[in-house]
Amino acid sequence: MPSRSSKPVDKLTTDEAQASLAELAAEIVAHDRRYHSEDKPIISDGDYDALRVRNAEIEAKFPELVRADSPSRSVGAAPSGTFSQVQHAKPMLSLDNAFADADVADFVASVRRFLAWPADQPLVFTAEPKIDGLSMSLRYENRKLVTAATRGDGSTGENVTANIRTIGEIPERLPDDAPDIVEVRGEVYMRRDDFFALNQRMAETGQNFANPRNSAAGSLRQKDSAVTKSRPLKFFAYAWGETSEPLGETQFDVVQLFRRWGFPVNEHMVRCTTVAEILTHYHAIDAERAALPYDIDGAVYKVDQLGLQERLGFRARSPRWAIAHKFAAEKAITTLNGIDIQVGRTGALTPVARLEPVTVGGVVVTNATLHNEDYIKGLGNKGEPIRAEGHDIRIGDKVIIQRAGDVIPQILDVVMEKRPADAEPYRFPNRCPVCDSHAVREEGEAVRRCTGGLVCPAQAVERIRHFVSRNALDIEGLGEKQIEFFFRHDNPALRIRTPADIFTLQTRQSGSLTKLEHIDGFGAVSVRKLFAAIDDRRQVQFSRFLFALGIRHIGETIARRLARHFLSFAAMRKVSQDARMPVSKSDPGNSAWQEIVGINGIGAIVAEALVDFFVEGHNSDALDALLAEVTPVDEEPVAAVSSPVAGKTVVFTGSLEKMSRDEAKAMAERLGAKVAGSVSKKTDLVVAGPGAGSKMKQASDLGIEVIDEEQWFELVGQGR
Ligand code: IVH
Repeated sequence: MPSRSSKPVDKLTTDEAQASLAELAAEIVAHDRRYHSEDKPIISDGDYDALRVRNAEIEAKFPELVRADSPSRSVGAAPSGTFSQVQHAKPMLSLDNAFADADVADFVASVRRFLAWPADQPLVFTAEPKIDGLSMSLRYENRKLVTAATRGDGSTGENVTANIRTIGEIPERLPDDAPDIVEVRGEVYMRRDDFFALNQRMAETGQNFANPRNSAAGSLRQKDSAVTKSRPLKFFAYAWGETSEPLGETQFDVVQLFRRWGFPVNEHMVRCTTVAEILTHYHAIDAERAALPYDIDGAVYKVDQLGLQERLGFRARSPRWAIAHKFAAEKAITTLNGIDIQVGRTGALTPVARLEPVTVGGVVVTNATLHNEDYIKGLGNKGEPIRAEGHDIRIGDKVIIQRAGDVIPQILDVVMEKRPADAEPYRFPNRCPVCDSHAVREEGEAVRRCTGGLVCPAQAVERIRHFVSRNALDIEGLGEKQIEFFFRHDNPALRIRTPADIFTLQTRQSGSLTKLEHIDGFGAVSVRKLFAAIDDRRQVQFSRFLFALGIRHIGETIARRLARHFLSFAAMRKVSQDARMPVSKSDPGNSAWQEIVGINGIGAIVAEALVDFFVEGHNSDALDALLAEVTPVDEEPVAAVSSPVAGKTVVFTGSLEKMSRDEAKAMAERLGAKVAGSVSKKTDLVVAGPGAGSKMKQASDLGIEVIDEEQWFELVGQGR
């Protein structure tokens, strides 16, 4: 048996991974101290690097286990950190992914819709390879390279300037006609042949990297830039951050400008105007893939006109004007040994395939998702046959599985010629495998759900796990095992069945004869720490609290949006309880409902989930019990944006001609305004287009200013 520290990352269990991350954090901090403060390193840079790489690999495989004190986070925490931190002048964002051709068509359609782009007018996109390396921001001031930073979390990266200066193809100086400030962004990568040669060289010292990307990242994160210099790193420029003046009119032109300045740019970038052209280029890049000297994992499409990019703007993590189209994933054939049914926090029964272990693209896969019962039967979302002849999936089948990037592997197809004679169609359970309640599938739903909401331990346990998870309440010391332990404990004084129970645990156990610290697995110190961690969360950010409640459709981004709008939890709860959903298409719902659906990025599905949650009696009781223990802290109003509409409540009505509703909303919000769906006393401004009806009348009755689209653009100083 390999020991935990040498076991391949994909073979680690969750517990082993957690223990390894704890050890690595302690070990790396100790080496950092020896190196930085004591100047007495006891391991080679290569060995040190290997520790960090292993830490990063485990974190990539188990993102939920990333520690608050992880070496990957504590970058630059002088004196023990390796690199100092750099605040990006403009955030370094990620890209949304497209997998199927239809996703690309959707992307193009959504851009056109957002811009209200006339159907007969061409819209140009650039298409280029997606380089599999790590993104880098190079800041030039007065035409001299001053800082190079990794992406980090998007707003803060690591300062790797000294190491970047060793990459020969990155210019140290820009030509005289370059602006005073410019951040050139792109990808640092390693060619495949260079990677193999480097690994061979390193093999003599017993080390190697898993792939060119890790190799590029590891080589760049060297403490000693002489080591980086010996590594064959390369760079492609494809984007930019802050600039003191505009760089051009189009994406394409700016990349050509970068080329003139001396940056390597990718030669496989073209302009396309239709989805068909984009897809043709995608297939051309895919066909070329194996012959390219570097790894790519897809293509990237960007709206070419920079003025349009500006109008499209950004979502929480990615621009609306670009998308990454990933290549089809690696595939393999293996045996389906069984199907397990997992019950999630919303009661959804999810089938998981247990597979004969098989290596796909360098990773051992033992589980794969089977999505839902129709998928096993061979039916798609609309009941249409999927997989060549719509055949079903049976235990014992040889199945084709696919793994794409970090996405959970899935079963694509069955090798029918190899189906065992006695294989039987799979019978999806109609009872919950955990609590035996009926599991029902509602009309129009793909998912079968356990009806045992309050009695089903699987749902309750999952809800508590979610409640304490890192991006929710983040209570350390309440892991999977502990939650199971408390959930099932015989002694009511030591039981946790609801979120509120977590906060009453200490008082309950102090009045009980059984003390936690006498129980195996809990020492006095860990019990003290656990109670301290719980107490520490009696005040919690509103958005985190809301996310922690685990309401359907309310993820982190939506929770933040709601918090930013309502500012206090009580205000949100009140509006949600007051809201009356529309009963027909022509019914707009009442003003509370309108307020919710008027929030940028919130639609009827989220609004309905919110209202459902708050009007349900059981939830209200559980929530009141929780609020007796925990206080959600009010959100600070967003720092005032200086614009003529900042802080104002705006209503758009009638048809807009130069922008879509979505764009109008996004623009107003960017300028610090609130957008509402209906006119009320709180409305400051109504922007009315042709066909505006009752809202315009209400506005004039209330004496509210009404302007047209043209005047709106004048007001906000954006010509169209
Ligand atoms: S554009 C605002 N173009 O992919 C987004 N990104 O999955 C700017 N990447 O973080 C990125 N090749 O590290 C862009 N040709 C390309 C790219 C590319 C690789 C990386 C980049 C980004 C990640 C998103």
